[in-house]
Amino acid sequence: MSIKIQPEAITSLRGYEVPERLGFGTVMAPVMFRARYQDGRWSDGELVPYGPLALDPAAKVLHYAQTCFEGMKAYRCGSEIGLFRPERNAERMVHSARRLCMPPVPEDLFMDAVRTVVSHCATLIPVGTGESLYIRPFLIGTQPDLSVTASKAYEFYVIASPSEAYHAGNMRLWVEREDSRAAVGGTGDAKVGGNYAASLLSIARLKERGYDQSLWLNPGNRRTVDELSGMNFFAVMDGALHTPALNGSILEGVTRDSMLTLARDLGIEVHEREIDIDDLLALVASGTCSEAFACGTAAIVSPISELGDSENRYRLASAPGPVAAQLRAALLDIQEGRVEDRFGWMQMV
Ligand code: COI
Repeated sequence: MSIKIQPEAITSLRGYEVPERLGFGTVMAPVMFRARYQDGRWSDGELVPYGPLALDPAAKVLHYAQTCFEGMKAYRCGSEIGLFRPERNAERMVHSARRLCMPPVPEDLFMDAVRTVVSHCATLIPVGTGESLYIRPFLIGTQPDLSVTASKAYEFYVIASPSEAYHAGNMRLWVEREDSRAAVGGTGDAKVGGNYAASLLSIARLKERGYDQSLWLNPGNRRTVDELSGMNFFAVMDGALHTPALNGSILEGVTRDSMLTLARDLGIEVHEREIDIDDLLALVASGTCSEAFACGTAAIVSPISELGDSENRYRLASAPGPVAAQLRAALLDIQEGRVEDRFGWMQMV
């Protein structure tokens, strides 16, 4: 497919300066990619100035949440720009789209779109450690029609945001025993907006109690740990790394998979298994579980300092613990080009 670069997009890039204070996902690059799907085929893509979308108020996405997205990053690797395992994001977006009965974005369209945005935003990529150009591809159903059927029209966008890590610093987690983020047979393993909407009430409640993130339990058994709202969960017990096994309601994180590979490579014993929440809390209380952390593209590796359950608070012995610190450094060394990429994860733009 060919990609048209609108002259207005180039104009909007000219003279654009990245503000000093970045935060996560609040500063937006002045350009975005757009492609449309209609009558069973994708249009050519275009790079356009960043700006509001024109959507019919009856568009399916606004009523029936026909939308899925990805989170990925571009890093400065010396004089080059690297994308971290982007094919994984392209594949996962195909999975998410299929789950919502949307036409999957072809992998070559996905990759061309991301590369076009990143190459035009090269000068906007921040260089501090843990900083990057966060990339957010998303797909929406745009057909104006209130019947509960799949949209016949779609738009695919890629926006980008020069960002710091999401949730830098230690996190206190609240064990969510009331609500569920996902359902058995639902969309938990797809990256769809509805999963995140379902987590917002819990996050609002836990903030009032002085916590940062929910720790979601499996919707089927309400007993084993699934994940956080936008990150996967890891615990270190007697020096071994444990993470919930993929079960259909957990999102298969690219960082999660990378942590497992890096840990094995560093000689750390790894277990993907069911983690019973009551066992976990008892192991934290006894000190057998000495550290825990969450990881994700946006968050990188975020240490967990405390788990709250009802009236009880369980403090982790170390946050950041040595395993989290070792894995975070190993990951960033590859992403930021300081060591040889022995796993072939980086794709240069
Ligand atoms: C990511 O890590 O890219 C995510 O999508 C998490 C997020 C919702 C901030």
